[in-house]
Amino acid sequence: MVLMSKRFLFAIFQGAFVLSLVLVQAQDKSGFISIDCGTSDGSSYTDEETGITYLSDSNFTDAGENRYVTPAYRLQTGERQFWNVRSFPQGTKNCYTLKPSQGKDTRYLIRARFMYGNYDNESALPEFDLYLGANLWDTVEVVSAQSIINKEIVHVPSSDHPHVCLVNTGLGVPFISVLELRPWNNRTYVTTTGSLQLYRRFDFASKNINRVMRYKDDVYDRLWSPFYADIWRPLNISFKDENSISKNVYGAPFTVMSTAYTRNRSTSYMGIHWNSSQSTFKYYFYMHFVELEKLGNKQSREFNIYINGKLWYGPFAPAYLNESTIYSTSGITPDSEGKVMVLLNKTENSTLPPLMNAMEVYVLKELLDQETNQTDAQAVLNIKSEYELKRDWQGDPCTPKAYSWEGLVCSSNITDLPRIISLNLSSSGLKGEISPYLADLTMLQYLDLSNNSLSGKVPEFLAELSFLRVLSLKGNNLTGPIPAALLERSKNGLSLSVDTNVIGNETSSSPSNETSSASLGYLFGKKKSLFQLVASAGSCLLYFVL
Ligand SMILES: *[C@@H]1O[C@H](CO)[C@@H](O)[C@H](O)[C@H]1NC(C)=O
Ligand SMILES: *[C@@H]1O[C@H](CO)[C@@H](O)[C@H](O)[C@H]1NC(C)=O
Ligand SMILES: *[C@@H]1O[C@H](CO)[C@@H](O)[C@H](O)[C@H]1NC(C)=O
Ligand SMILES: *[C@@H]1O[C@H](CO)[C@@H](O)[C@H](O)[C@H]1NC(C)=O
Ligand SMILES: *[C@@H]1O[C@H](CO)[C@@H](O)[C@H](O)[C@H]1NC(C)=O
Ligand SMILES: *[C@@H]1O[C@H](CO)[C@@H](O)[C@H](O)[C@H]1NC(C)=O
Ligand SMILES: *[C@@H]1O[C@H](CO)[C@@H](O)[C@H](O)[C@H]1NC(C)=O
Ligand SMILES: *[C@@H]1O[C@H](CO)[C@@H](O)[C@H](O)[C@H]1NC(C)=O
Ligand SMILES: *[C@@H]1O[C@H](CO)[C@@H](O)[C@H](O)[C@H]1NC(C)=O
Ligand SMILES: *[C@@H]1O[C@H](CO)[C@@H](O)[C@H](O)[C@H]1NC(C)=O
Ligand SMILES: *[C@@H]1O[C@H](CO)[C@@H](O)[C@H](O)[C@H]1NC(C)=O
Ligand SMILES: *[C@@H]1O[C@H](CO)[C@@H](O)[C@H](O)[C@H]1NC(C)=O
Repeated sequence: MVLMSKRFLFAIFQGAFVLSLVLVQAQDKSGFISIDCGTSDGSSYTDEETGITYLSDSNFTDAGENRYVTPAYRLQTGERQFWNVRSFPQGTKNCYTLKPSQGKDTRYLIRARFMYGNYDNESALPEFDLYLGANLWDTVEVVSAQSIINKEIVHVPSSDHPHVCLVNTGLGVPFISVLELRPWNNRTYVTTTGSLQLYRRFDFASKNINRVMRYKDDVYDRLWSPFYADIWRPLNISFKDENSISKNVYGAPFTVMSTAYTRNRSTSYMGIHWNSSQSTFKYYFYMHFVELEKLGNKQSREFNIYINGKLWYGPFAPAYLNESTIYSTSGITPDSEGKVMVLLNKTENSTLPPLMNAMEVYVLKELLDQETNQTDAQAVLNIKSEYELKRDWQGDPCTPKAYSWEGLVCSSNITDLPRIISLNLSSSGLKGEISPYLADLTMLQYLDLSNNSLSGKVPEFLAELSFLRVLSLKGNNLTGPIPAALLERSKNGLSLSVDTNVIGNETSSSPSNETSSASLGYLFGKKKSLFQLVASAGSCLLYFVL
């Protein structure tokens, strides 16, 4: 049941009718990706507290180095994931590639966690940028060696292999402690545009003030921070059975929902407020309620929810032991003074004051820049691995724009995905044949393969790169003939440079005749060419054997 208010945009999810379907999916943690950054390469372990299996970075990044936090800080945290970090002293942009099995178009929670722990023994607190794909996600500002920084975003990636990148902005070496991805229900936390960056997630009146609730209590592995306020009154009720509270599709966990704050009977309202760090923030609220007291015949608990003085939802009466979630369907900006105020006021006839079990606040993050066309990105990755290039090519080739891969130029057409239009692999130690993956870079205008040790034939497909304007194959060990179509292109505006031995003086004068009728004859007919044919066949053989 989704009700829409006419005045303010919100919706409510009530009841347990979707529960079975959702939880069956969610309890299976097979879609989780959990990386304990900095743990020994190739290792994995199961966390005792959560039962989650953490993997080392090895399958997700090949950059960076593993470091231990100093023993004093290690002792301070019970969470093993913070005992070590992956540090990135080399390069400006270093990336993790996540490969969730559900692929793109699914809603995920992506969480990066950081604890400096003076791992480098320099006691210098770094600051660096965190990117999600092509877009700046947030800046990580380390305020103390022991503080734990969590960055969470609810995001639907447009690529099957979302990248999380750390960018050195000159304020210290980036590092990371934990990187986690959790598939979430598609129907929850929906926004028309953008992604939801976590602002705060409160577990009101939490029984254990020192413990953050998460998996397995929460099948979606949200981190629920205990919220303590001594001016409020905890609802003092103990439930033994986890199933005594019915969940809705948002599945706020029993441990979180079975505690709540309320007020003295004489007080009719409760609320929270904060100063927004930015006046342009668009806040999204997810408030989870359940009535914990069995109300008598003459009792009622009913209240209105106001945000910045406007009725957001109400009157509302939480159902006994039945979760309701009231949530935003559009963002709410701070008031003119930059404040955000949430107020729950009891209605005139309600005999009991309001209550608050749990609340999540997110900020809308528009991630507008898109990653490189996947065909292009995959092609250039294949080229990198085929030639075993040692370049610092990580994450997405074209984005973020300021950190695109060295040697690449990308188109920046706002309406289209970035495409690779120039590739410079000059003097890069390339060996073997000209890679067939180059054929996939269909938008290439400029291709420089000069001064390598490339051998074999000049492939036909180069002529099919219809936007190619400059092609340099000089300084290699390639063999002729140049495909006729390519020579034809070179007469029509393509600037082609090859070693003279590849062209041969005769071929260049009548290219189309060579290939159409007598290319073998031509090759055998010239001493130089005969040698080249042998070389070519040799490398061809190698190609197939491999
Ligand atoms: C890395 O991936 C391979 C292949 O999927 C897998 O066999 C291996 O266990 C993974 N290693 C780690 C440390 O996760
Ligand atoms: C989520 O929704 C998208 C489209 O809305 C769909 O393509 C995708 O398969 C869904 N994923 C899951 C896990 O249901
Ligand atoms: C870290 O710094 C302290 C004080 O400067 C020094 O005593 C200690 O040996 C250093 N430890 C390491 C591992 O470099
Ligand atoms: C109201 O609540 C406060 C704080 O919990 C408490 O100190 C005070 O005694 C309460 N007043 C009444 C009338 O219950
Ligand atoms: C209610 O709270 C008080 C004070 O926090 C505590 O002493 C008492 O045991 C609680 N009662 C129940 C039933 O939990
Ligand atoms: C809610 O209650 C507070 C405290 O009584 C009051 O100041 C405020 O005006 C009320 N808000 C509305 C919209 O009634
Ligand atoms: C409150 O209760 C009185 C008496 O039952 C009734 O007349 C009145 O309409 C109720 N007010 C609201 C807002 O429901
Ligand atoms: C990426 O490029 C390929 C090859 O040009 C094209 O077929 C495909 O449609 C493009 N993908 C997107 C999402 O634009
Ligand atoms: C962007 O691409 C579209 C479609 O390919 C094209 O029509 C448009 O002219 C391009 N715009 C720019 C600024 O290149
Ligand atoms: C070119 O190929 C020939 C024959 O395979 C080989 O002897 C020579 O060393 C190669 N030259 C370069 C620069 O690779
Ligand atoms: C053919 O090549 C040879 C050796 O590279 C050169 O001396 C000669 O001038 C060339 N002939 C023409 C017509 O380009
Ligand atoms: C191809 O060769 C034939 C005969 O050798 C000649 O007449 C013709 O002009 C040549 N064509 C081109 C395009 O050079």
